Amino acid sequence: MYTVRQAGPDDLAGVRAVARRFGNLGQWPHRPDYLDRELDNGRLVAGFADGDLVGFGATFARGGLTHLADLFVLPEHQSSGLGRTLLTRLLPVDAPRVTFASSDPRAVALYVRQGMRPVCPLLYLRGPMSALPGPGVAPTLGPAGAAVPPDRAAGSSDEAIVPGVVAALDADASGGRRDADLAWYAALPGVTTVHTGTGYAMVRDARDGVQVGPAGGQTTRHCADAVLAALARHRAAGTATLCLFGPNPLLPVLLEAGFAIADMDVFLSSGGDPLALDRYLPHPDLG
Ligand SMILES: CC(C)(COP(=O)(O)OP(=O)(O)OC[C@H]1O[C@@H](n2cnc3c(N)ncnc32)[C@H](O)[C@@H]1OP(=O)(O)O)[C@@H](O)C(=O)NCCC(=O)NCCS
Repeated sequence: MYTVRQAGPDDLAGVRAVARRFGNLGQWPHRPDYLDRELDNGRLVAGFADGDLVGFGATFARGGLTHLADLFVLPEHQSSGLGRTLLTRLLPVDAPRVTFASSDPRAVALYVRQGMRPVCPLLYLRGPMSALPGPGVAPTLGPAGAAVPPDRAAGSSDEAIVPGVVAALDADASGGRRDADLAWYAALPGVTTVHTGTGYAMVRDARDGVQVGPAGGQTTRHCADAVLAALARHRAAGTATLCLFGPNPLLPVLLEAGFAIADMDVFLSSGGDPLALDRYLPHPDLG
């Protein structure tokens, strides 16, 4: 009854219609958005019922690591096997893979039976930047690690060195290189990159505040300092949204400063600690 194939440009309107049904494009009011990127990467797969596009899935690659970024089936077609068929087409069975599963029990069930295991929660936070500590002063974040150059500690964005430095920091924390995807994101309107030499945080102007991520650092402290530097730099925007894994020591700092948990996913991995849970903050859509 269902057919599945790689999506082409003519399928994008149908993919967008499904994505909108799930509210996925709320943080992407302008084109190009992350669905354009998935299509351009050739990693977008669509499912059809009688010629109508009724579901889709997509991945991003970081080196040899595959991140399942999307799996959505229209409600009237759910629980009929399409999600499983899309997943089989999208994910390798013998290579490292990760994903963020929604609270839909079918999602976790499919991913576990595809060989991944739940690791920890991924928390989506939203809150005011006014009460946050600056970099280097949050009390619960442990030793400071290597000194951060003062000019960088304030959060600089030196376009000349961003691509190489940030791509390397990101690969170390996130599990693999994705230079082209990072360059694409960095070039979007409203995106700035704060880097400290030992950490980085990409920030995008959103409808109501800023969205932080991906972000990371060589140590948990370096990651936290980069994120706090980015938030300090964008304080005038008022509100920030970001997501982080349960073990990240920034979690209590943000909650203490008045951030609220807006949503929660489950991080699943095929094994082997592919990314640094305590010093990496993913982008909600790009991984
Ligand atoms: C999650 C989703 C993509 C799955 O697609 P689907 O076409 O509905 O799923 P399928 O019918 O292929 O498979 C669902 C599986 O979950 C199993 N399942 C259903 N409820 C379950 C439960 N409570 N516990 C364990 N397994 C369960 C079913 O038995 C089925 O497995 P089977 O094919 O071996 O019988 C789809 O339901 C969806 O779009 N949900 C809403 C959006 C969402 O949350 N997407 C996930 C983003 S991470």
